[in-house]
Amino acid sequence: MSPDWAPAFDAVPRSDFLPDLMWPHDMATGRSVPVDKARDPQAWQRHADSNVPIVTQWDDGAHAGTTPGTSFSSSSSMPSLVFSMLADLDVRDGQRVLEIGTGTAWNAALLAHRLGARNVVTMEVDGVVAAAGRNALERFGLPLEVVHGDGFLGCPERAPFDRMIATCGLRTIPFAWVEQTAPGGLILVPWGTHYGPAEATARLLVAEDGRSASGFFTRPVAFMRMRAQRFVRPPHDAYVPTGAGDDADVSSTTVTEGEFCGTGTFAAVEFAIGLRVRDVSHVADRKRDGVRPVLFYGLTDRSWAVVVFRDDRKEATVYQSGPRHLWDEAEAAYRWWADNGRPGVERFGLTVTADGHTTWLDDPGNVLAR
Ligand SMILES: C[S@@+](CC[C@H](N)C(=O)[O-])C[C@H]1O[C@@H](n2cnc3c(N)ncnc32)[C@H](O)[C@@H]1O
Repeated sequence: MSPDWAPAFDAVPRSDFLPDLMWPHDMATGRSVPVDKARDPQAWQRHADSNVPIVTQWDDGAHAGTTPGTSFSSSSSMPSLVFSMLADLDVRDGQRVLEIGTGTAWNAALLAHRLGARNVVTMEVDGVVAAAGRNALERFGLPLEVVHGDGFLGCPERAPFDRMIATCGLRTIPFAWVEQTAPGGLILVPWGTHYGPAEATARLLVAEDGRSASGFFTRPVAFMRMRAQRFVRPPHDAYVPTGAGDDADVSSTTVTEGEFCGTGTFAAVEFAIGLRVRDVSHVADRKRDGVRPVLFYGLTDRSWAVVVFRDDRKEATVYQSGPRHLWDEAEAAYRWWADNGRPGVERFGLTVTADGHTTWLDDPGNVLAR
């Protein structure tokens, strides 16, 4: 946490914005466990005060009961990440901020404590979540404006803003956000490609002419995606019908599972490969009995590939089919990343214009993909 945020941290407790029934993330097991304030107020408070993400809604509100639902759709982010992002946002007194993704409204309350409630607007796509956030803010005494709507459109009626912060992940950043941010302003947004879940926060400075926003990524993150931009696993059987493997090209690779898959959610390798391999989704299946298949699906045609890593073999077997050889592309991207000194996400950058996105390494002139 940067020292300028310490007073807000002291004055605005996260617990004032959490529901009685919530599902803190257990970092050891990767599971979310229900905690009910009525049943165990001490455990509830302990989790509220701990540095873990807490799920507050499942399945867009369709799920009821205490057991976790299928996929989380709203949460209170990990406090250390909340404060790292606020530090990256670099706000100054008197500035106006738009937040996309109200959730519990804790982040919006921190911003309002620092800048004043009338300088903060927050948008939430889910009506129930938006109403709960609005109530919590009013109860707490920071009645800032909560807009129930699609944050992808931004909030033109309240623009321009000096800062824009998204607390959900995007693959496509709308140019409307650049238009609604004042020249010299900042947009902080978790961003990733279609390749997989890896993402990082892009910190984009809006150009003086307002025609672009550009900057480096600041840190790897793992946010839930904006509703309309969620990762949908491609339908495997449509790509690889029964027997399709018999006609595939078979080869092998010396790239190892450890090199290619990295260690953990925040490894830069997946993010970097995704910047090079366009219009491809990949799914690394769980390892069973020392065998781990990683699958690749083309998003503009039905090309597919599977690489099967085995603990008992030095080389992995590769199956590829379709107009594109997706493993060859992924392997080339991996080798490019390794040859360039295995850069972390902080060496990559993004530029957004009305024409789309450009990614680069070290310098906006060193373009990776448009
Ligand atoms: C990780 S939570 C936000 C955490 C929140 N900032 C806090 O302090 O608790 C992400 C939120 O983004 C919301 N969201 C998803 N898509 C959205 C969209 N298109 N517009 C606005 N909000 C969206 C989700 O409903 C969810 O509540």
